[in-house]
Amino acid sequence: MGQSITFHKADKLKPKPDGSKPLGFGKFFTDYMFEMDYSMEEGWHDARIVPYGPISLDPAATIFHYGQEVFEGMKAYRTEDKRILLFRPDKNMERMNQSCARLNIPEIDEQFVIKAIKQLVAIEEKWIPNEPGQSLYIRPFIIGTDPALGVHPSSTYKLLIILSPVGSYFGDSMSPVKIYVEDEYVRAVKGGVGYAKTSGNYAASLKAQTKSEELGFDQVLWLDGVEHKYIEEVGSMNIFFKIDDEVWTPALNGSILPGVTRASVIELLQHWGVTVKEKKISVNKLFKKAEKQQLKEVFGTGTAAVISPVGFLKWNDKVIKVANGKTGKLSQKLYDTLTGIQNGKIKDELHWIQE
Ligand code: COI
Repeated sequence: MGQSITFHKADKLKPKPDGSKPLGFGKFFTDYMFEMDYSMEEGWHDARIVPYGPISLDPAATIFHYGQEVFEGMKAYRTEDKRILLFRPDKNMERMNQSCARLNIPEIDEQFVIKAIKQLVAIEEKWIPNEPGQSLYIRPFIIGTDPALGVHPSSTYKLLIILSPVGSYFGDSMSPVKIYVEDEYVRAVKGGVGYAKTSGNYAASLKAQTKSEELGFDQVLWLDGVEHKYIEEVGSMNIFFKIDDEVWTPALNGSILPGVTRASVIELLQHWGVTVKEKKISVNKLFKKAEKQQLKEVFGTGTAAVISPVGFLKWNDKVIKVANGKTGKLSQKLYDTLTGIQNGKIKDELHWIQE
């Protein structure tokens, strides 16, 4: 796998979106993408950067029928002095291999894929947007490509990396979202694929997401799949609660995604001397804490949204207005610090940035 990466030049480049207008999330794609194939005989081979565009797959390909796929999400930033910064790509690649192991996909050479990402991003440097809150989103993913309808792991795969200039995931990045506690549908169960970043988890979330939107909410709060009592995630993010002076987050239990932003928030809070507790948190206990005025802030964490404050929570007929529906001080400080480190404006004391 210590192979070279070939470059196929595009005949024509696309116009770039107007960075002064909101970019939204994942709507624009750059001129090039990375592609690499896997076969039993050759392993991962034919690493190439090619013009962005449709790929051709057999309609019987494993990905279409049995969803054998893993993906990652990460971001690149350009500093004022024109350096390109990546936030903890090693963590994403480590997780990609954990997801591969669960989905029976052959593992990748993490360092090689980081090199491919850096090469692709360097070619697409001009696509990295500059306005506050904007970045270049990097989406590596692997799909099973065998044309076969038997339920077996594919023997051939494709790894692709696409890039998208993005703004905030939600309309206004730091305005608090309204959350509905979902107690009918579940996202994942222990022993399943909840801890892996794989498309099926997101497909399983769509019905509840639509329901929450129809009820006037932004996202759902996912409970555990067995007892429907314990808090797992919020929408496609991990979740944190500030209870008095401590910060609590659900402990990783096999059905929760081990978020890179989640890990970074925990490390940052500990670095600041804040007590963080990773524990089993029941929704009942959370609402009790809120009744006693001990629930000070709630926020989601993820690569896409970074920090997303929660202003309102509804569980059956009970409602909580968090921090008066406003963005809490700690949520804002975490957002400012993380984005500051990511875009090079704040010193990277925890050594998270790669160039
Ligand atoms: C993230 O924020 O890390 C996500 O996974 C969201 C993505 C699925 C859009």
